[in-house]
Amino acid sequence: MSKKILITGGAGFIGSHVVRLFVNQYPQYQIVNFDALTYAGNLENLRDVETASNYHFFKGDITVPQEIEAAFQQYGITDVIHLAAESHVDRSIHSPVDFVMTNVVGTVHLLNVAKQFWASDLENHLFYHVSTDEVYGTLGETGLFTEQTPYDPRSPYSASKASSDHFVRAYHETYHLRTVVSNCSNNYGPFHFPEKLIPLMIRNILHQQPLPVYGDGLYTRDWLFVKDHARAIDTVFHKGIVGETYNIGGFNEWKNIDIVHLVCGIMDEKLGREKGTSQQLIRFVKDRPGHDRRYAIDATKINRELGWKPSVTFEEGIVETIDWYLANQEWLEHVSSGAYQSYYESMYQNR
Ligand code: NAD
Ligand code: DAU
Repeated sequence: MSKKILITGGAGFIGSHVVRLFVNQYPQYQIVNFDALTYAGNLENLRDVETASNYHFFKGDITVPQEIEAAFQQYGITDVIHLAAESHVDRSIHSPVDFVMTNVVGTVHLLNVAKQFWASDLENHLFYHVSTDEVYGTLGETGLFTEQTPYDPRSPYSASKASSDHFVRAYHETYHLRTVVSNCSNNYGPFHFPEKLIPLMIRNILHQQPLPVYGDGLYTRDWLFVKDHARAIDTVFHKGIVGETYNIGGFNEWKNIDIVHLVCGIMDEKLGREKGTSQQLIRFVKDRPGHDRRYAIDATKINRELGWKPSVTFEEGIVETIDWYLANQEWLEHVSSGAYQSYYESMYQNR
């Protein structure tokens, strides 16, 4: 059966890489990008595939079941890869209800429509839920998150993602919907919205603006190049065992301050600025409330059972990322205009 895959959040950062990979790699599938085009969604991210005959865009909101039903009806959707979400922790601290509505209620509406639409032949369909390592909480100096680590979300964002993961598993157990879940670490790469650490630093270095580092800067994240996450999603979609969870990560831990130093150094060189210029812009600012100290993923299961591993080293990926931003400053300025400016002022003025 030829698949007709609904990819939610396909106009966002990770979603656009997943859409691109599936459109190019699987011409026999129809790919429907279902996206509400919030501040984080941008069809410019998909200019290179928008004329492909197997690509379709449906502007829709996962919190509105009639819009999901319309897309299922129009395209005869056979499978879902669900990425649509509110994704920024700082925004969740200011507006937690938005995160409940999109990440929890929206996911349940999507599950419901899929369950109803596929009721007569559930065995032929897959609902793939893309989630985050933040559901596991925070680590001390040692240890890794495995698929057995108990959930312990500590921000409104991670609480909403944890809740959506539970609903997906509940639909598998209760209604026998065929589901699979993956939990990934921090992504970086092209098309990353400049509210997140790495693109925010790149943008501020370009404009010679202060580089806000939260707290002591010693918080640790496990960074994965976004194209490797898209490859992992492809692998889990095609080879994952129904009902299972797969952790995805880069085996690549960095303290925030070290990343900022690295990006400063590479950009000084690329911009022809004197060594050390950008580091002078670093400002240690008020910490994020409830800031998780360390994330690190044990990605052994997906490696052993499905054969996936990262293909891009951090050294390669960060240079490709910085080169992309330098070559796409129009994109960066476009997404940073208007609403981004007021967001930035309200988020950073009291730090
Ligand atoms: P993003 O914020 O860049 O994109 C989210 C997309 O969802 C946008 O295109 C937006 O328009 C769309 N969207 C938001 N609300 C919607 C709604 N109600 N209906 C339809 N579309 C809606 O997010 P991202 O960083 O690409 O993350 C994608 C997914 O991957 C999320 O589920 C996130 O939790 C998960 N994730 C992200 C990371 C990361 O490092 N960015 C890591 C692990 C998991
Ligand atoms: O771990 C996966 C998660 O990674 C995803 O689920 C989220 O959607 C994604 O946003 C990301 O969450 P983080 O909170 O880790 O990412 P962020 O880029 O916001 O922050 C990374 C680290 O950098 C974190 O320790 C906070 C710090 N930081 C962030 C910003 C924006 C700063 O020091 N200064 C900043 O200005």
